[in-house]
Order: sequence, then structure tokens, then C-alpha cells
Amino acid sequence: MKLLVTGGAGFIGSAVVRQAVRDGHEVINLDALTYAACLENLTPVANAPNYTFVQADIRDRAALDEIFKEHAPDAVMHLAAESHVDRSIDGPGDFIETNVMGTFQMLEAARAHWDREGRPDSFRFHHISTDEVFGSLGETGMFTETTPYDPRSPYSASKASSDHLVRAWAETYGLPVVLTNCSNNYGPYHFPEKLIPVIILNALAGKDLPIYGDGSNVRDWLYVEDHADALLLVVQKGEVGRSYNIGGENERTNLELVQTLCGILDEMRPKSSGSYADQITFVTDRPGHDARYAIDPARIRDELGWRPSVTVEEGLRRTVEWYLNNEAWWRPLQDRSGVGQRLGTKA
Ligand SMILES: NC(=O)c1ccc[n+]([C@@H]2O[C@H](COP(=O)([O-])OP(=O)(O)OC[C@H]3O[C@@H](n4cnc5c(N)ncnc54)[C@H](O)[C@@H]3O)[C@@H](O)[C@H]2O)c1
Repeated sequence: MKLLVTGGAGFIGSAVVRQAVRDGHEVINLDALTYAACLENLTPVANAPNYTFVQADIRDRAALDEIFKEHAPDAVMHLAAESHVDRSIDGPGDFIETNVMGTFQMLEAARAHWDREGRPDSFRFHHISTDEVFGSLGETGMFTETTPYDPRSPYSASKASSDHLVRAWAETYGLPVVLTNCSNNYGPYHFPEKLIPVIILNALAGKDLPIYGDGSNVRDWLYVEDHADALLLVVQKGEVGRSYNIGGENERTNLELVQTLCGILDEMRPKSSGSYADQITFVTDRPGHDARYAIDPARIRDELGWRPSVTVEEGLRRTVEWYLNNEAWWRPLQDRSGVGQRLGTKA
């Protein structure tokens, strides 16, 4: 397929691009290169004949029209977004602009392209979203595709808004869309402001390992390359108009997750004395911190035959090893604005 991937210089988008190029798809990566982007994530495919990079902003309708006309994609995989909850608390405006207005511009540009092409049934607009749109769970229960939306942070509210726009464009204009809502991703090339890379890099630097609140918040963790596989399956085989929840079947409290990472680091890069776990520090909680997310993966498993292939133990080992071997990638990113600072406490 000819795939237009937005946000392909980010964490998940670059995993999708690398996998799609390896699978032989023709890939156009559209990215504005914000603070969260890193073109080095694409080094393994940068010279492939089936890969093209275009710097553009999804809020720029004229630029989008040019790109659609020039490349005439068979499908859009829309990942470009502002993605860090803590930043959304301090500055929600960028999240509304990019995640809501940017998705609106993408939908309109895609619809114009689809019209020009004679409205092919085979066209897909695949919107990539998060499980955070469903809100916060108690100790039991799981999110299904029919769980009512209940977003509680500016980030999740902006993603929920964009999901609603995508469904409205399908109902109103007939645009052939598919949606996915995924749990927390982790793995190589994860930007060093998110929990897992923060813990690994602070541990190595001898700094505190900050845990929000009492560390009891539960997240489901999915290895990013498994997510990329699932997304490429959905864009090719997903039923039009349908949404699919994607999860890792790996629920952990934040404290358990950090303790596991410390254990792996103790083994792979032992300290001269003591354990990395000695560096764990409890800090002020995130305002409105959702207690628990969990995904019921039945639909994507039963209808498309997809299940995660990497356990959290294996995925975390691979991730720690990758950070130990790729200091040249992460070191310069630590100088980017806001990285290494506690954000999201202004509320
Ligand atoms: N990270 C997760 O755990 C997770 C889980 C579920 C869903 N998602 C969703 O997956 C998508 C990708 O997440 P990620 O973690 O890779 O994000 P990321 O922050 O690592 O990457 C986002 C990319 O989008 C680009 N971008 C931002 N604003 C743009 C704009 N206006 N125009 C063009 N490009 C722009 C950035 O330059 C960056 O390369 C997002 O839509 C996010 O909501 C993420």
C-alpha cells in the first residue's frame, strides 16, 4: 500500500514507519518535527527507495492538500499529536490545536483527496488513539470498544474529541475510517520525558527515581513493535467504521514497573553498592491522575487474530538493553525544552 503516516518521527509513528518500509509498503512520513520528534528514529530506513519524509504541520491545510495531490496515498495512518499528559496540564492550547484542529484538517484534506479519486471503498483513514479516552477504572473491569468516553485530562479530552470527529466524518461523509485505542507503549526510541526512559536514565545518572503519588496507579504496557504490527494489520484488514482496542495484557502498578526496571538494571549494569531501587522517591501526584487503565483485547484477537508477542518482562529487558547501547541517541534529547523537569503540577 501507499501509506501516508503522520507523526512518523515520533516514538510510535517511527516504529510503524520502520515496520511498514520493511514490509515493502511505500511510506510517506509527514511530521512537523516538534520537540518530541527525532529523525534519527528513521535512520534504519532513511535511504530505502520506498520511504519519503515530508516536513509539514497537520494544521496547515494548504500543505496537506499539496501532499495528498503529490502522493495520492491508499491510506492514512494518523498518529501526529501532542502526547504528554503532564505538558497538557501546563499548556492545553497546543493539544487542542494539534489533536483537535489538526485532526479536523487531516480529515478534510483526506476527504478532498478521496473525492478526487472517485471515493474508492478501499481508501482508509486510520486514526490512532489512546485508552485514556475511556477515563479511569476501579480495581476491576476493562475497557471495551463500547465503554462510554470519560476523558479526564486535557490530553485525553483532546484525543477523545479527535475520535468523535473521525466517527462523524464516517457517518456524515462516508469517509472509510478505522480507529484504534491503545494502552501505554514502551520500547526503543521512547522520548526521555516518559516514565520508563526517565527511570532508566535517572537510575544510570544516580538521580532520584520519581514516582507520582504512592505508585499504585495501574497501567497496561504494550511493546511498541507489537503496537506497530497491530496498526499495520488494522489498516489492511480492519472493518470499515470499526474501532479496535489494543492492549499488552500486562497490567502493572507504576511502583511494580519501576521495581522491575531497577532489578533489570541491577543485573545488567550493577552499582558498586546497593540497588537502583534505593533511588526510588515518591513525589507529588499528577492532578487528576487516572487510577487504572485496562484493555479487553477480545475484538482484535477474535476478529483479526492479533495478540501481543512480547511479555512485559522480555520487553523491559530489551528496552533497558537498548538504552544502555544507545546513549548517542538519548543524550542530546535531554537538552530539549522541558525534558528532565517536573511538569504538570501547575493545576
Ligand atoms: N505513547 C503511548 O503510550 C500511546 C498510547 C496510545 C496511543 N498513543 C497515540 O499514538 C500517537 C503517537 O504517540 P507517540 O507516543 O509516538 O507520540 P510522540 O509525541 O512520540 O510523537 C508525536 C509526533 O507527532 C509530531 N507532531 C506533533 N504535532 C504535529 C503537527 N502539528 N503536525 C505534524 N506533526 C506533528 C511530532 O513531531 C512527533 O514526531 C498519538 O496520537 C498518541 O495519542 C500513544
